[in-house]
Amino acid sequence: MSKAEFVRVMFNDISHKYDLLNDVLSVGTHRLWKKNFVSLILKSNPKSALDCACGTGDIAFELKKNISGEVVGIDFSERMIDFANERNEKSSGKVTFRVADIMKLPFEDKTFDIASISFGIRNVEDLAKGLSELGRVAKAVYVLEFGQPRNQLYKKSYFGLLKLYVPVFGLISKRKDAYEYLIASSEKFPSDEKFLEVFRANTNFKHYKSIPVFGGIAYIYAGSNEAL
Ligand SMILES: C[S@@+](CC[C@H](N)C(=O)[O-])C[C@H]1O[C@@H](n2cnc3c(N)ncnc32)[C@H](O)[C@@H]1O
Repeated sequence: MSKAEFVRVMFNDISHKYDLLNDVLSVGTHRLWKKNFVSLILKSNPKSALDCACGTGDIAFELKKNISGEVVGIDFSERMIDFANERNEKSSGKVTFRVADIMKLPFEDKTFDIASISFGIRNVEDLAKGLSELGRVAKAVYVLEFGQPRNQLYKKSYFGLLKLYVPVFGLISKRKDAYEYLIASSEKFPSDEKFLEVFRANTNFKHYKSIPVFGGIAYIYAGSNEAL
């Protein structure tokens, strides 16, 4: 099975518990991180937005509160999109959700003012191609993703703790491998300067920035032609 198919089936399988497990696993902090991420994006005053790997729609809904133009959310997990659409109906259907793959986005070049992706790019089969697609369809790209803390002692303690308590959530979700995958992929995924190297090499913006969140447990990356 390819990585893409493994990831798609895994997110289909955990979709019904995804929001609850996110809240418990992060002790609610993912909401704050996402709010800060969206606040940063909104500083550029976008009139349209594409949220990629949107899951159940957290970022797209938060963006739509402040963007009068089109906000689209895409994900290749049909079940995640079903849950996003359910939430959309309850909030009067202002976001457009559709099933699509980041590796081949069904949009013309520079359709959107911004493209965002939160906790999704780590899962994409080919990071370079994924970033190049985001940069192709939008005038600026914003990424929120797990990484590794810059401080080595903090890094060791954080991943040690994660390995102790995250497997419990694997049992609850009945996809133990999903949460083993979360740790393994976060520990290895290129973060900070290493991520920026790939970002720069595959997009064509004038300015790039990396901002550590919680000392580097996660990072926000931005690429834009406007000063950041
Ligand atoms: C950890 S969830 C993040 C969901 C949401 N953005 C959030 O922050 O809660 C990762 C999502 O990435 C999606 N995904 C992974 N690879 C993808 C791809 N190539 N194209 C579209 N979606 C993808 C998965 O289906 C899953 O819903």
